[in-house]
Amino acid sequence: MKFFLDTANVDKIREFAEIGLVDGVTTNPTLIAKEGRDFHEVIKEICSIVKGPVSAEVTALDAEGMIKEARELSKLADNVVVKIPMTKEGLKAVNVLSKEGIKTNVTLVFSANQALMAAKAGATYISPFVGRLDDIGQNGMQLIAEIVQIFRNYDIKTEIIVASVRHPMHVIEAAELGADIATIPFAVLDKMFNHPLTDKGIDRFMKDWEEYLKNKK
Ligand code: E4P
Repeated sequence: MKFFLDTANVDKIREFAEIGLVDGVTTNPTLIAKEGRDFHEVIKEICSIVKGPVSAEVTALDAEGMIKEARELSKLADNVVVKIPMTKEGLKAVNVLSKEGIKTNVTLVFSANQALMAAKAGATYISPFVGRLDDIGQNGMQLIAEIVQIFRNYDIKTEIIVASVRHPMHVIEAAELGADIATIPFAVLDKMFNHPLTDKGIDRFMKDWEEYLKNKK
């Protein structure tokens, strides 16, 4: 499974890219606003750090406006993927953009029907939001299971990005289900390094090594 970083923070992207953990990046208007920097400048900088797909979201709500923004965004770098909301207008835009060879990521997917329609419209990626479903008492991972099954049934090439990831268990479950990608906030990725037995084990090894060095003299 590929790991994308769900952030527009270039320092964090650099930090995890150095460990080889960043296959791509997803941003959204909220994440861009958090950084307080020029939208296009941030996307260009992220694309210079990460070779994989970098999602940049349109803000127009009509197909014509989305297509215009998408064409501009796609010129920022070769690895830009245009994020389009899951609406009728959005899929109209995806249909046009896919024929122009512009890669799209259909976002705010909350049902298997939405996923199937986005794929049929020509989306390169779809982003089902598991955390936001869990928040309203629905099962986010159940949706991933349904979409994985449906895409397998019809050999659909659209890749599934598990989004709105809130904790390490979401990542494990996404991998168990065979989702293509999880887009992970850096705080969650940080937690995934940790295990108390790893810390305890290092502590023991260090103490034993000190003893060994002392006795050797
Ligand atoms: C996905 O591409 C979105 O940027 C993101 O995962 C949304 O997550 P949230 O529900 O934590 O805002």
